[in-house]
Amino acid sequence: MKLYKANIIFTREKDQFEIVEQGYVGVDNGRVVGVAASADAFGKEVEDVIDYGDKLLIPAMNDMHVHAPQYRNQAISMDLELLPWLMNYTFPEEAKFSDPRYAARMYSRFVHDLWRFGTMRSVVFATIHLESTRLLMQLFRDAGMGALVGKVDMDRNAIDALHESIDEAVAKNEALIAEWNAPDSLVRPIITPRFVPSCSPAMLRACGKLAQKYQLPVQSHLSENASEIAWVKELEPESRNYGDAYDRYGLFGQTPTIMAHCVHTAGDELELMTRRNVMVAHCPTSNLNVSSGMAPIRTFLDRGVKVGLGSDISGGHDLSIMRMMVYAIQVSKMCYCRDKSKHFLTLSEAFWLATKSAGSFFGHVGSFEPGYEFDALVIDDADLNHDNYSLLHRLERFIYLGDDRNIAVRFCRGQEIPEPRLHN
Ligand code: GUN
Ligand code: FE
Repeated sequence: MKLYKANIIFTREKDQFEIVEQGYVGVDNGRVVGVAASADAFGKEVEDVIDYGDKLLIPAMNDMHVHAPQYRNQAISMDLELLPWLMNYTFPEEAKFSDPRYAARMYSRFVHDLWRFGTMRSVVFATIHLESTRLLMQLFRDAGMGALVGKVDMDRNAIDALHESIDEAVAKNEALIAEWNAPDSLVRPIITPRFVPSCSPAMLRACGKLAQKYQLPVQSHLSENASEIAWVKELEPESRNYGDAYDRYGLFGQTPTIMAHCVHTAGDELELMTRRNVMVAHCPTSNLNVSSGMAPIRTFLDRGVKVGLGSDISGGHDLSIMRMMVYAIQVSKMCYCRDKSKHFLTLSEAFWLATKSAGSFFGHVGSFEPGYEFDALVIDDADLNHDNYSLLHRLERFIYLGDDRNIAVRFCRGQEIPEPRLHN
């Protein structure tokens, strides 16, 4: 067993931080054995003690919704709402990923930058293309970082270059599943119908069948934007709500499911989502940038709906999940201004959303409780701690003011993760 000594901060419950000043995390075989104030608590099995001095040691970040092929579009072209934004900016960029050399250049930078910001696990949309999706998965594997990567399935209402037949989509998914679907692997496939407007009923049915047959998780988009929701009503007139349109095809909790946005989820849809244990990927910057609205996160938490945070590059402009905590808190404060019965998110809640709550989608990830995989960040906040702040205030200042330069060391599943290589 190895011991890591530092100022340890994590959340077991959403309402409270666990803080151990100059404490130890014991790690064996990639998993946390426990946290203690003294090394003696771990007995005689200790091989090594790594002392990080006055630095902070926190669980690593999880990005629950991000589009790797939109990395070039990060922080540009946010002047349209969702549907014209997709047509004008997003689909043309994604079409470029038919070229694996372009994909290698963009995807290696994307994986590199997730590493920079301390995101050790992600739930990722790729594109419809087999070769470049395979390459993205290989880049995650080479980096040693965890990812659920979806080859995107779509066959209507986009541009011709992004439409494919159902047979092609199924064959590509099955090729990736054959190569990548090992139960303990850090990098695995996830079934990814883009969203209802992009998928014919037959495509949705095929996706549901794949999820069922291979017992794979599912990701998509849900109730992000008013025009999108109205369109889904037209396309799927028999469905009781947007969520039900996925449910009818076995894409709503039949296997572990995560839906991005859910800005306008309420009523029957919320009830179904709760019953089906569907997780929400909350993407506050994206919801601001493409003017989708403010997701009712307090309502979700009160209902017991699981929530994680997502950057949603390039609807969102910021890859930092630390910053996503800040945006989630700020947006919740605007919701609170409209309805004082919905209390805004606290710092511990936002931290818990980004770590333990999100991490549950990957298994035991996101906490330092015994049995959790050791995904961690060592934070050097010396530049921010100029006047003996408390440990909690140091964490808060890192989240609000810090950036990738404050992340000294990154661990995923017990392994220290070195800087990934860029392909130019
Ligand atoms: N809905 C369908 N595709 C997308 C996408 O690429 N980004 C966002 N934000 N919403 C979507
Ligand atoms: Fe998205």
